[in-house]
Amino acid sequence: MSTLVIEGSQWGDEGKGKVTDYFAQQADVVVRSQGGNNAGHTITINDEKYALRSIPSGIFNPHTKNILANGMVINPKQLLEELHILESRGIKEYQLFISNRAHIVLPYHELLDEAYEKYKGDAKVGTTKRGIGPCYSDKANRIGIRVGQFIDEEDFKNSIVESLKIKNLELKMLGLEPLDADVIFNEYKEYAKEIKKYVCDTSMLIEKEIEKGSKVLFEGAQGAMLCLDHGTYPYVTSSSPAAAAVPVDCGIAPYYIKDVLGISKAYTTRVGEGPFPTEIDSDIASYIRERGHEYGTVTKRPRRVGWLDAFALNYAKRVSGINYLALMLLDVLTGLDEIKICCGYSLDGKEIDYVPSTIKELNRVKPIYITMPGWKEDISDVKTFGDLPKNAKIYVKKIEELTKTKVVIISVGPNRSQTIELEKIF
Ligand code: GDP
Ligand code: IMO
Ligand code: MG
Repeated sequence: MSTLVIEGSQWGDEGKGKVTDYFAQQADVVVRSQGGNNAGHTITINDEKYALRSIPSGIFNPHTKNILANGMVINPKQLLEELHILESRGIKEYQLFISNRAHIVLPYHELLDEAYEKYKGDAKVGTTKRGIGPCYSDKANRIGIRVGQFIDEEDFKNSIVESLKIKNLELKMLGLEPLDADVIFNEYKEYAKEIKKYVCDTSMLIEKEIEKGSKVLFEGAQGAMLCLDHGTYPYVTSSSPAAAAVPVDCGIAPYYIKDVLGISKAYTTRVGEGPFPTEIDSDIASYIRERGHEYGTVTKRPRRVGWLDAFALNYAKRVSGINYLALMLLDVLTGLDEIKICCGYSLDGKEIDYVPSTIKELNRVKPIYITMPGWKEDISDVKTFGDLPKNAKIYVKKIEELTKTKVVIISVGPNRSQTIELEKIF
């Protein structure tokens, strides 16, 4: 059995796309199990940059089966646009499979996402406005439309009429125009025709692949601190990026999941609102933002920047079972005199051993830092751990010590070749 979960261990954008693509060169299957086009996974192949949103990062390997599993919310219009862009860039041979149990994001989800954000005012979440929250809400409220229904014209027509009975009331309540079922049906039935050939029972497919010994990667979206249950609620996404959710989100047994590679930047970023204990607001933040091109893949928003939060990493490790780490964007820290790592939190002057559950408390948390010496050498062409500058090595070792987790990948640039693999885990 060879499965590996790639999981964001911070607030997203840690480099999951790069790591998935790196491993996908040997993977038989890559599965996206949750989220939707709120994700933006950047892959750089020979300096060519691709930004994937709903499509798994194994799409560049024609031998890899790419699966969108039942835990995802899929915007069919955007998915087809993404596919067409890839095709226009020469990615024409690929294998794609879409779960008949995944949910469909429709125009009213995006409108409602935007309206809820507007009415929340200062309390807004800072969502990607891709309709993710409203689509998962409909799923939980049992008024969602699934892919299996979507590709059956009669079923889709009836479902959209039924859904709009409720959704139009909600739209009107929020001061928006009601939508016409026929207009949506006539546009979306064309998308349904196009995606129908990819739709199947992906739970059976994934199990079959695992059982026959295929190498299967589960590509997480978002990150542990954005988890609906364990993240900084309500400033979170509406699914669970934790590895523990993979079995449910894919329809497979939990014993198929053993190894979980937590992806972490060598510092921290966050996009959107919400607590961020190690956030820095100084020239150092601008330095890191510019060197790391820290602007959102999906919304182009500047990402908030902070020091590495090893306390939050340990929390992510505990709630999601991370047993290896990939340390990304280490090259970005080159040039800093000193680098800080947060190794604990204090609340109202007292050190605590837990991550508070309320925003009220999280906003009062103060990070406890240790300070490490920086390095000046450009490391973007370094190929082995031994060739890293001494202080960069000490920094990596410190992170291993603080998290009691082995760093198996160090990334020193966006390209595939800028990857130092310290131990083979896949
Ligand atoms: P994801 O959402 O976790 O897949 O991450 P994103 O793609 O949203 O953001 C990570 C960004 O960092 C992308 O622009 C990547 O191309 C880039 N990147 C990944 N690894 C490295 C690295 O080691 N060094 C540098 N400089 N950039 C990297
Ligand atoms: P990847 O997979 C970073 C954030 C949004 C917002 C919150 C809720 O590229 O790491 P949503 O649209 O999901 O309802 O927004 O979650 N968010 C992400 N931040 N990376 C992502 O994905 C994100 N997906 C959602 O900015 O704060
Ligand atoms: Mg991203």
